[in-house]
Amino acid sequence: MRLDYYLANATAMSRKDAKRAISRGQVCIDGQPCRQIALHIVTGQHITLRGQLLSLPGERYLMLNKPLGVVSATSDRDHLTVLSLLPADQRSHLHVAGRLDIDTTGLVLLTTDGQWSHRLTSPKVECEKIYRVELAAPLRSEAADAIEAGLQLHNEVRKTRPARVVPVAENVIELAITEGRYHQVKRMMAAVGNHVVGLHRLQIGGIRLDPTLEPGESRPLTEEEIQSVD
Ligand code: URA
Repeated sequence: MRLDYYLANATAMSRKDAKRAISRGQVCIDGQPCRQIALHIVTGQHITLRGQLLSLPGERYLMLNKPLGVVSATSDRDHLTVLSLLPADQRSHLHVAGRLDIDTTGLVLLTTDGQWSHRLTSPKVECEKIYRVELAAPLRSEAADAIEAGLQLHNEVRKTRPARVVPVAENVIELAITEGRYHQVKRMMAAVGNHVVGLHRLQIGGIRLDPTLEPGESRPLTEEEIQSVD
């Protein structure tokens, strides 16, 4: 697509205004000002207008820092939902790619793109999720070894997949898992005789929770974050 068409499609600008903005050097491609109105752009290029990243209307992708007490559903009679935390004009057609429990905080991804979210949540894909886990007691080294090797959870046929444990503080670990079973982290810690007192998701695949987002805040994903899910 030509740059002036792209700009007009990605913003509310007329083609005339789009051409003018390009000739004035207000549009950058991959960080470099581009004054060629008819240049053909290719997928994956990072296009900004006066420093603002642009994307075409269509699919939408957001990250949210979920606070405590909010449910990951799109509607709920009794609780605030992650959707209700978004500006009203951004809510339509979004779904959650990987839920968190009501008492878990941190990274939630929302999108309109079902194929994209499938690649994050399908058990076949083994997408890594990283959690900061606050525990009732320090994690013994035998318990960490058992978690890393794979655990037999109550009422499950298969053991959990190998995981990664990184100690952070006396009662805090970072845990990387590649599954999303029901209450998985809490059940893993219970299986080694411990108890989760705080759970926060830091990362899904290559997408890290933006540390500038306060609980309840959200932002669109960057092109690089969207493309990191392949
Ligand atoms: N594991 C849990 O136990 N709860 C979550 O919210 C996420 C992973």
